[in-house]
Amino acid sequence: MVKICCIGAGYVGGPTMAVIALKCPKIEVVVVDISVPRINAWNSDQLPIYEPGLEDVVKQCRGKNLFFSTDVEKHVAEADIVFVSVNTPTKTRGLGAGKAADLTYWESAARMIADVSKSDKIVVEKSTVPVKTAEAIEKILTHNSKGINFQILSNPEFLAEGTAIKDLFNPDRVLIGGRETPGGLKAVKALKDVYAHWVPDDRILTTNLWSAELSKLAANAFLAQRISSVNAMSALCEATGADVSQVSYAVGTDTRIGPKFLNASVGFGGSCFQKDILNLVYICECNGLPEVAEYWKQVIKINDYQKNRFVNRVVASMFNTVANKKVAILGFAFKKDTGDTRETPAIDVCKGLLGDKARLSIYDPQVTEDQIQRDLTMKKFDWDHPLHLQPMSPTTVKQVSIVWDAYEATKDAHAVCILTEWDEFKTLDFQRIYDNMQKPAFIFDGRNIVNPAKLREIGFIVYSIGKPLDAWLKDMPAVA
Ligand code: NAI
Repeated sequence: MVKICCIGAGYVGGPTMAVIALKCPKIEVVVVDISVPRINAWNSDQLPIYEPGLEDVVKQCRGKNLFFSTDVEKHVAEADIVFVSVNTPTKTRGLGAGKAADLTYWESAARMIADVSKSDKIVVEKSTVPVKTAEAIEKILTHNSKGINFQILSNPEFLAEGTAIKDLFNPDRVLIGGRETPGGLKAVKALKDVYAHWVPDDRILTTNLWSAELSKLAANAFLAQRISSVNAMSALCEATGADVSQVSYAVGTDTRIGPKFLNASVGFGGSCFQKDILNLVYICECNGLPEVAEYWKQVIKINDYQKNRFVNRVVASMFNTVANKKVAILGFAFKKDTGDTRETPAIDVCKGLLGDKARLSIYDPQVTEDQIQRDLTMKKFDWDHPLHLQPMSPTTVKQVSIVWDAYEATKDAHAVCILTEWDEFKTLDFQRIYDNMQKPAFIFDGRNIVNPAKLREIGFIVYSIGKPLDAWLKDMPAVA
């Protein structure tokens, strides 16, 4: 029986391994982690992450051929294939601070693999890593290997949170990069055989190691760039009276462009886009390509601009101050159908409003009070470390209250900001919300999910990103 061990039981390691276990009943899959609470949660009824369909998959195979354990060394030693899906945060200190990937967790995992291994192994990079990381990992493994043969593969993960299970069941492609040597090709075939249990042959792409590593960074950069492109257009739409939804529809019907990832919003978030682009920028700079670095940096700058622009619209519309005004924040997760708040635009928007002394009442169907308070007090990039190594927030933000209902959040509020596109926000009783708010009542829709015309009929002053402006807002231009 082939044995797989995955180091890192996070958003990637957990769902990917659960799906491998489900689709390959003859393979034993063990997911290990240094975080005891995380492993306990995977072994409980309350999984550590929310992802539609995940619970069902885990329940079908847990205890049969899917196991979660903190006994990292034992399971790594026993495995034929070791996936490494640990954190790769942005460095906050030293060389490359603020851009380069911090490979501390990766390196310690590689050293541990070398230490405990007694048999040949295939080591698979599942984490997103800088191009050429495999070379460094290879060096660590071979210098410490005691004659054991390690083959390194790059198998980046393309799942999207919120649709992870669907994406894993039916991936656009699985990418496997390996050395073009007999040993490398054999390892590629072994991993391909795992995915071949359910992924059609023509969707399993094989490349050299460096192409696979770089493709992941490139794919995320391209995706983020589409969002920044449409968001840049949204600012121009507001200035000219064009409607960004109409523009992106017209643009996206061109088959060369396609309709996906063209929704204007308050900005992209999530654990990957910013981190991976910063990483790409750093690699370009290190390779003497400042123009290329500058080009990709702009994708992040536009994203920051969009978040600032949103905050400025809110403040400018409300007589240039939100001091002591209650602002309801609907949605805190970086997108719908996930509880993940890593790099969510809600953090910057909330911090911006708090900077202007607003009182915030936040409701998100999947994010806990503790998480929101941690996010609003944590330093940039600190979130991307294993939970038990993150600095505990010493204080809570007093002007913030977290409530469990959109109506409670909006009661007596001066304004509502919609920051996540949760489906339940589309069907709220806005008349009821309006009746219970201070007047004039404002709605700032950062996800374009409400119907501005209907809300205006009720009496709201409405701002929707990239849409023709309310007369009220026209007189108060927001300077970013
Ligand atoms: P995560 O933070 O949810 O999970 C990482 C896990 O690794 C944590 O539970 C941590 O305790 C554990 N860990 C760290 N060092 C360890 C060690 N030495 N031994 C055992 N466990 C260790 O992170 P997530 O989101 O799963 O991301 C992992 C990697 O996958 C990152 O490189 C990320 O960029 C990449 N990725 C993430 C995607 C996403 O949607 N979240 C999608 C594709 C790639």
